[in-house]
Amino acid sequence: MKIRPVGITGLGMAVPERVLTNHDLERMVDTSDEWIRTRTGIRERRIAAPHEASSDYALRAAREAMAQAGVTPEQIDLIICATVTPDMPMPATAALVQAALGAHRAAAFDLSAACPGWIYGVVMAQQSIATGLYDCALVIGVELLSKMVNWQDRKTCVLFGDAAGAAVLQPVSEGRGILSSVLGAEGAGHCHLYTPAGGSRLPASPETVAQGLHYVHMNGPEVFKFAVRVMDEATVQVVEKAGLTVGDIDLLVPHQANVRIIDSAVKRLGLAPEKVVVNLDRYGNTSSASIPVALTEALAEGRVRDGDLVVCVSFGAGLVWGALALRWGR
Ligand code: ACO
Repeated sequence: MKIRPVGITGLGMAVPERVLTNHDLERMVDTSDEWIRTRTGIRERRIAAPHEASSDYALRAAREAMAQAGVTPEQIDLIICATVTPDMPMPATAALVQAALGAHRAAAFDLSAACPGWIYGVVMAQQSIATGLYDCALVIGVELLSKMVNWQDRKTCVLFGDAAGAAVLQPVSEGRGILSSVLGAEGAGHCHLYTPAGGSRLPASPETVAQGLHYVHMNGPEVFKFAVRVMDEATVQVVEKAGLTVGDIDLLVPHQANVRIIDSAVKRLGLAPEKVVVNLDRYGNTSSASIPVALTEALAEGRVRDGDLVVCVSFGAGLVWGALALRWGR
């Protein structure tokens, strides 16, 4: 079987209009702009309106990515929506996007891998295109975490924001596209970041709601330690798998959770700060949307050029991680 090179041929993003600043949060919980900025690097985040759902933003990001790639809905074979905040538990948000786009030929499913979900989705789509099963895939990372956090819990509500990012994947020229990937999991750490109720273990009931078990629960320091360890390990692994070194990286797009996690990884890797994309000050942690949004902005700002080695790396609930090395261009 001939394996085809696969790359990103279009990118798009969508964020809510409403900006929630750290000063706004000072009026909601016992926190301060100073604490949030120095502990996380976040200044503000975007929050969706009460009537909005993940598919609304997924659709906008998808349309932008398709326009950039120059593909029509009929060309799309596969839609993967990486999200832990679907419109509803069933059906898949990807199916709602498929209908709204009019992508009648496309298969559609959701993928649950928290923050690295978009990277997991890109790797799955890459395999489908590389083998010739499909020619064109849409991989979306979308999260409206504002709907899942407890707005009275200062340990979590200050961290997250809402957004969607999308990529079109297609065959590209030899030497371009995805060079290597790394996906991993340490499921034993699932208890450090989870939503206890609303699934089959603890179905939603008046009691679970009264106890706030439908909200995101997180052991921040444990997740922090895990993140610092896997971010630079996965980055080194993915470039070595591509037969390259960290010194070859032109642009690192890390998961935008906490600037201290990024700084620690970048320092250990010995990368120059100008090679690292950071936009979490404006959006907070947008989970699976974080990397495609950061990549979309970096491309729009002219920070990604043809032939550049771009590395994306992420971690999140599971606990899981993922990294991609891409040679940019068609
Ligand atoms: N404002 C003021 N004080 C606060 C706040 C707040 N918003 N949040 C916590 N504190 C307090 C705590 O109560 C604690 O006080 P105490 O010492 O009196 O008990 C103190 O600040 C220190 O708390 P820590 O949790 O130890 O603070 P830390 O420096 O670890 O920072 C943080 C917390 C920002 C959550 C950090 O641990 C972190 O970023 N962890 C990683 C989280 C993450 O990246 N998650 C991503 C995955 S998301 C996904 O997969 C969906």
